[in-house]
Amino acid sequence: MNILVVGSGGREHTFTWKLAQSKRCDKLYVAPGNAGTESIATNLPISPTDFNAIAAAIDTFKINMVVVGPEDPLVKGIVNYFRSKKEYDDLIIIGPDQTGAQLEGSKDFSKSFMNKYGIPTAKAKTFNATQYQEALNYLETQTCPIVLKADGLAAGKGVIIASNMDEAKEALKEILIDKKFSDAGNKVLIEQFLKGIELSVFVLSDGKNYIMLPEAKDYKRIGENDTGLNTGGMGAVSPVPFAQGAFLKKVEDQVIKPTIDGLNDEGIDYKGFLFIGLMNDNGNPYVIEYNVRMGDPETQAVIPRIESDLVELFEAAGREKLNEFSIKLNPKTAVTVVSVAGGYPESYEKGNEISGITNAEDDATIVFHAGTKTQDGKVTTNGGRVLAVTSLADSIMDAKTQTYSKIKKISWKDMYFRRDIADDLLKYSS
Ligand code: AMP
Ligand code: GLY
Repeated sequence: MNILVVGSGGREHTFTWKLAQSKRCDKLYVAPGNAGTESIATNLPISPTDFNAIAAAIDTFKINMVVVGPEDPLVKGIVNYFRSKKEYDDLIIIGPDQTGAQLEGSKDFSKSFMNKYGIPTAKAKTFNATQYQEALNYLETQTCPIVLKADGLAAGKGVIIASNMDEAKEALKEILIDKKFSDAGNKVLIEQFLKGIELSVFVLSDGKNYIMLPEAKDYKRIGENDTGLNTGGMGAVSPVPFAQGAFLKKVEDQVIKPTIDGLNDEGIDYKGFLFIGLMNDNGNPYVIEYNVRMGDPETQAVIPRIESDLVELFEAAGREKLNEFSIKLNPKTAVTVVSVAGGYPESYEKGNEISGITNAEDDATIVFHAGTKTQDGKVTTNGGRVLAVTSLADSIMDAKTQTYSKIKKISWKDMYFRRDIADDLLKYSS
């Protein structure tokens, strides 16, 4: 079949890399893609939210399956767009519809959903701008640290963890009154702070059945030892040694099953990925957030651990046959380290030539592109997060050593990466 991947980051290069390995994949397209996808598929200069242009590409290239990478087109209704047109009845789309995507698009929606279906999460209250005084009064009854969240999509910046009441009041004013996150901050959640260690759990749902994918740990801060500004993610490790056995069973029983049942009860036909950000507090899972897509850079650690054919897995999800699918996983550990442009997540340069990518790749190591493009036959930087290097090995230590030895072969002006990815997990290895 012919397949279109929507998006341009490391997540989308990883999907494309894995889909390209399938015997079931004929022609592969990416909209808009990057220099990495260009070397294994055809890039189409189309924005992920330009649904008319995507439809035209589907018609022209006789696309049978669309894999939606980022949340933006899902929240804007790409699935509804195609499901409302009879001629696309047979098109498989991996991603939830607009209502399902509200699990990520509105933190108020997802909090109400979790409360309705008894899914463990932090206690929170929602306020709008007309309730500013009420919100302030409520805030004063709370203890710090406290978390303030803009309701809508805010490019990963809408969550403020306030360590004292002055900071919390300032954040409340910035969101509700100063409109720092514009309409995403029409409502604010004042949420209890959760203690523990974070991890990401991934599920693929066909609307009735689900498959759990490998879990991963993300490293969000720019600086080593989790310091400095938040980023999209600086590295990932899968599997996560502190989240096995009894803990994962609790996640499935207390979080995943009630979530899938709840979606069914709400009449939401959820065919796509569900990414659950969790806090492990002394062996008990609490949901921090839902995302309606795979994580980036978690995908770069999770997908290489899937041995099954990804086209067949997606076909099963699209045709409501995940109950017939038995997923095969690689037991090895994947360690992914993201290299970024100097200055990221604040301002950074684009257009610097990258050297050494092919020297970094071998049987155990893959280089996934994120913010890259081809310019005059050369691969150059084109974003904040530029590349993700993933190695698979028998232990966390070996995978980490392999990844870092390969990163050294890559360079460009002001390249930066964290040198401590996976270090916190070494204590769990035997
Ligand atoms: P979100 O955009 O909801 O993923 O939040 C971004 C990050 O803020 C999460 O990955 C957590 O590290 C942190 N966070 C969000 N909510 C809470 C909470 N209730 N308690 C502690 N940390 C939180
Ligand atoms: N790495 C976190 C995310 O994709 O949201």
